[in-house]
Amino acid sequence: MTVLLTGAAGRIGAALADRLPVLGWALRPFDRVPTDRGFVGDITSRADLDAAMDGVTAVVHLAGQPTEAPWPVVRDANIEGTFQVFEAARRHGVARVVYASSNHATGFTPVVPALPADAPARPDTLYGVSKVFGEALGRYYADRYGIRVACVRIGTFAPTPPDIRALSTWLSPGDCARLVDACLQAPDLTYALVWGVSANRRRTWSLDEARALGYEPQDDAEVYADQVPAGETFESDGYVGGGFTSAGFGIDEVAARA
Ligand SMILES: NC(=O)c1ccc[n+]([C@@H]2O[C@H](COP(=O)([O-])OP(=O)(O)OC[C@H]3O[C@@H](n4cnc5c(N)ncnc54)[C@H](O)[C@@H]3O)[C@@H](O)[C@H]2O)c1
Repeated sequence: MTVLLTGAAGRIGAALADRLPVLGWALRPFDRVPTDRGFVGDITSRADLDAAMDGVTAVVHLAGQPTEAPWPVVRDANIEGTFQVFEAARRHGVARVVYASSNHATGFTPVVPALPADAPARPDTLYGVSKVFGEALGRYYADRYGIRVACVRIGTFAPTPPDIRALSTWLSPGDCARLVDACLQAPDLTYALVWGVSANRRRTWSLDEARALGYEPQDDAEVYADQVPAGETFESDGYVGGGFTSAGFGIDEVAARA
């Protein structure tokens, strides 16, 4: 069982590269940035992916543009790149793909208690739109080709919660590994949308869907509550996507900052 880990040099990738082998997974790292014993390649390159995908049984697909950016950047990494990853998985007979989606796929959804993980798409940015595309692509490859696909709508991945919002949305590195491990193992998985969040006391997202795959989170952001700087409140706090729903994340504003 070899697992291709795209984006292995990134924040989440490095945390998983440390933790998944301890849980018994044989990893093959892949990134355009060199990593230990990994493939150096680009997810937009069919040839690079073909070279890396041979003998792989599952893919954890993290590589891409991880926040809002001008359209060409989002398009190349998250639209074209994600398509090439699913296509390479199909060509090589890969059984399962775990896809790093984001809360920003439904960022304009108002915050309510226990929001289901399959809340309809309401992207807050072009980045969020690209994550909706990845979720749809996953559904397509599951239905048409029988690949088992778990799309994880990740909240805020960080060593500790960085701000007040993250007291609700935090995904700890340990829980991230536990969640990916569950997605890689779940026997009944066909296609699933799950929230990527720890057992935070203040969370507003349902854990039922992830628990159904076998995820048992162990961390709670509340432990860090007195270390998080007190913040102002914003209108955007009422939405799942937080600050990404604010005016500063419009297409023109992002282009001007680039
Ligand atoms: N960090 C979070 O809180 C968070 C939240 C929601 C979703 N996500 C998603 O999780 C994934 C990983 O996020 P991260 O925070 O680790 O990001 P990151 O930027 O730290 O890591 C992304 C990695 O992808 C690689 N990469 C980018 N484009 C590539 C390409 N064309 N070919 C090969 N490699 C490429 C980069 O070199 C980098 O190592 C992303 O898909 C992101 O959208 C992250």
